Amino acid sequence: MFEDIEKILFREQDILLRVEELARQINCDYEGKELVMVAFLNGSFIFLADLVRKISLPVHVECMRVSSYEGVGSTGSLKFEDKEIQNLTNRHVLLIDDILDTGTTLKGMKEWFLQKSRALSIRTCVLLQKRIARTPLIEADYMGFEIENEFVVGYGLDYREYYRNLPFIGVLKSEAIDRPQT
Ligand code: IMP
Ligand code: MG
Repeated sequence: MFEDIEKILFREQDILLRVEELARQINCDYEGKELVMVAFLNGSFIFLADLVRKISLPVHVECMRVSSYEGVGSTGSLKFEDKEIQNLTNRHVLLIDDILDTGTTLKGMKEWFLQKSRALSIRTCVLLQKRIARTPLIEADYMGFEIENEFVVGYGLDYREYYRNLPFIGVLKSEAIDRPQT
């Protein structure tokens, strides 16, 4: 598994420090309010776990399974189950994803919540954002790190469901991407 990594971008300790900073900002921005964090699975499960433990506000956590990716490419369409989300009427909602790539996922989900949820506010938070031009434009309200347009794995992010358990975030070697599946 480690031999498939081209280079490490962020070590566990760097990630935790940045996650703490994000949490501090969120705690400050939502002071005196309650928050509902809605995390998109599977990619954001580790980010969510670390982030939520640094949140000092009264918070509810919801998770949704969402996917727009197959292998290393975005399919451009979203698949998700919308039945599980509880009533968000008059709540402040923070949507959590692992990475902002083409923006299909975050934009699609934000629009869906804006239409369906009757929330008081809807903001977005991602751990990573790729440095690419996005059309249509979407930016996350909270963002951990900006990275180049490379395929990364670890700290919850996968390639064909593998590598989520790596404690760091690293770039996958092209051989590992091209290798025939077993
Ligand atoms: P988007 O919809 O193109 O913005 O892609 C966002 C989703 O694709 C994320 O929630 C990830 O699950 C997945 N994804 C995008 N880029 C990467 C990557 O570099 N590594 C692993 N997953 C990625
Ligand atoms: Mg994901």
